[in-house]
Amino acid sequence: MPRERSGAFAPGRVNLIGEHTDYNRGLALPFAIGEGVTVHARARDSAAADRIFAHARDLDETDEFDLGKPRPARGWRAFVRGTVAELARAGYPLRGAHVDIAGDVPLGGGLSSSAALEVALCLALIQLGADADGETETELDRREIAQLCARVEHRWVGAHTGLLDQLASLYGRLDAASLIDFATLRIEYVPLRLGTWRLAVADSGERHAHASSPYNRRRAECQRACELLGVASLRDAEVQRLERLPEPLRARARHVLSENQRVLAAAEALRSGDLLALGALLNRSHASLRDCYEVSTAAVERTVRGVHEAGAAGARMIGGGFGGYVLGLFAPSIPLPDGVREVRPGAGAHLLGA
Ligand code: GLA
Repeated sequence: MPRERSGAFAPGRVNLIGEHTDYNRGLALPFAIGEGVTVHARARDSAAADRIFAHARDLDETDEFDLGKPRPARGWRAFVRGTVAELARAGYPLRGAHVDIAGDVPLGGGLSSSAALEVALCLALIQLGADADGETETELDRREIAQLCARVEHRWVGAHTGLLDQLASLYGRLDAASLIDFATLRIEYVPLRLGTWRLAVADSGERHAHASSPYNRRRAECQRACELLGVASLRDAEVQRLERLPEPLRARARHVLSENQRVLAAAEALRSGDLLALGALLNRSHASLRDCYEVSTAAVERTVRGVHEAGAAGARMIGGGFGGYVLGLFAPSIPLPDGVREVRPGAGAHLLGA
């Protein structure tokens, strides 16, 4: 018996530390947040059985296209059409559906609104296409879904992003950060025991789209550094050999190698409850992103300064860079400044049992 309805929720994420390491087969330590995207899908009647009708509730915009051959589009429609096309290409049985999308992750702010959309849509459409007594959620390969969503970004959006956002959303766990090794895609959970310390994000006010920012150029620079070093990925590069690289490739590689070390140190700081050490690592990560990876902007720098002036023990830009949110870590005695919002680890992506 086919299902008539399905629903799924996928969270956004905050990356505690480990920026621009995912596409370098490195390490990162993100956590899923409470905010995310919810998708409800309802099978369409036979007359429109091969078409998707999508409603983006927050924007009050719609889209309609053929299941078999969606054409390229811009903005949120590119993510929806691309997800449908990549699901079909991967062989998932799909049905025409009315898809309702609602979310509360700020768009383009570095909290992974797009991954949340792709992941929620994947889970809801896979569920709707599966026989009611057939495949269940537990049988879905979540790593495969993350890779499928990354192909949406590459082929439909033009952003050559890694797997950080999708894995963080798919594998998020309440009260834990996910230590992801992108060389093996193994995930180890590290309890996010903050006590009365708080993590909070401040908006730089600047929005970004990875496809049009220098994000893709950074990825290409890392690729070029690997070619010159004769390694398959920067994970295999030795720090002593970076000297032979020309600038700015040397600085890019230095960021990636040192950021991997900071991820391990941050996991250790969390395990031992040393939140001051975690704050210092956030600061060092930011300095490296600004000076070596050169993905900060004047607005982001102003925001980081503001968070420090408010008394944060550590602060850094999060996500791909060129705008978006800044993460701050605040000790118990420090009140959160106005306009800064607290973020807590939330549940990973899941079906809603429609
Ligand atoms: C964006 C991308 C991720 C990752 C980060 C930087 O969020 O989508 O794949 O590369 O930037 O760490």
